[in-house]
Amino acid sequence: MPDFMETIYAKAAKNPKRVVLPEGNDDRTVEAAVKLTGLGAAKVTVLGDPDRINEIGKSKGLKTDGINIIDLANPPDIDSFAQEFYELRKSKGMTPEEAKKVMLRDVYYGAMMVRRGIVDTFVAGAVNTTADVSRAAIYLIGMKEGIKTLSSFFVMLLPDKSFGKEGVLFYSDGGFVIDPDAEQLSDIAVTTGDTYRELMGEEPRVALLSFSTKGSAKHSRIDKVTAALELAKKKDPTLMIDGELQGDAALIPAVGAKKAPGSDVAGKATVLIFPDLDSGNIAYKLTERLAKAEAYGPIYQGTKKPCSDLSRGCKASDIVNIAAINVVRLGKS
Ligand SMILES: CC(C)(COP(=O)(O)OP(=O)(O)OC[C@H]1O[C@@H](n2cnc3c(N)ncnc32)[C@H](O)[C@@H]1OP(=O)(O)O)[C@@H](O)C(=O)NCCC(=O)NCCS
Repeated sequence: MPDFMETIYAKAAKNPKRVVLPEGNDDRTVEAAVKLTGLGAAKVTVLGDPDRINEIGKSKGLKTDGINIIDLANPPDIDSFAQEFYELRKSKGMTPEEAKKVMLRDVYYGAMMVRRGIVDTFVAGAVNTTADVSRAAIYLIGMKEGIKTLSSFFVMLLPDKSFGKEGVLFYSDGGFVIDPDAEQLSDIAVTTGDTYRELMGEEPRVALLSFSTKGSAKHSRIDKVTAALELAKKKDPTLMIDGELQGDAALIPAVGAKKAPGSDVAGKATVLIFPDLDSGNIAYKLTERLAKAEAYGPIYQGTKKPCSDLSRGCKASDIVNIAAINVVRLGKS
């Protein structure tokens, strides 16, 4: 079977999209832009200082031809971008001067390009903080119809192909929403189900995880999960979703059959929804280390157009992978 990322690159190359990488003054961004262009996975725009960007290319022996470079010292449409941003945020106390200052910052300018439909997605965060990347996503791209919560997902690739869809599992949220309430948890579940459809091209089986299965224990934390289940069913009546389920009841057919008989999710979950960021983050790191899984993410979800944050310690290949995943998601949306 072809490698998961090879399949993603091939799908992206069949239907490439316009990607902006706002942090063009950083070496990794330039490397990623060249790689994405070479793969034919995207038409890439980078923001920054053109001399610096070309210099990085030269010093690494990379050809930057075919990459659109926007000089952030004099970016097109800046006044109209700033005016639109001011209109969006004036009720929150933003002034026209502040709006222009913010709009001249790479990640906000890139997000406005997505908002305006000049490009299809942005990937940033190699240099910017999560707070700035997430605010740019929330303020400028905005949330999908019916979804209020920006969240993130991981694609986990396990060597043991008996789990999930031939070893592929989606985890959420291991990267963004710290302490979701029932409403936010239901958003996370429904959104991750959608993301699974976008990337895997089939229906997900979504497990809302807990330390209890179907009433085996009683606690307000379990009540939060069962409330999220009811909300999620209303938001997406077609979604195969169940909870509350323990990890083994979600993943192991014999345990699922015993603890949650008749469930169309228990024992065969492909999407795991964790009750909070503690459990989601711990689980993805343990799965990586103990099960020798590969993890791709966290990748944002819930916004009108895909976009994503990066870890500041990321490699150029992480930028390429996340951008290519977002290109494939766009192909389905
Ligand atoms: C998103 C974030 C930067 C916003 O913080 P902030 O600007 O200081 O202040 P607020 O919490 O008031 O949020 C600002 C806006 O973002 C919205 N917002 C916050 N979190 C959101 C989410 N998950 N989804 C959608 N909107 C969100 C708020 O509703 C608010 O909207 P408004 O200004 O239009 O009313 C902050 O909530 C954050 O850092 N979240 C990430 C949490 C985190 O650190 N996770 C772990 C990473 S490892």
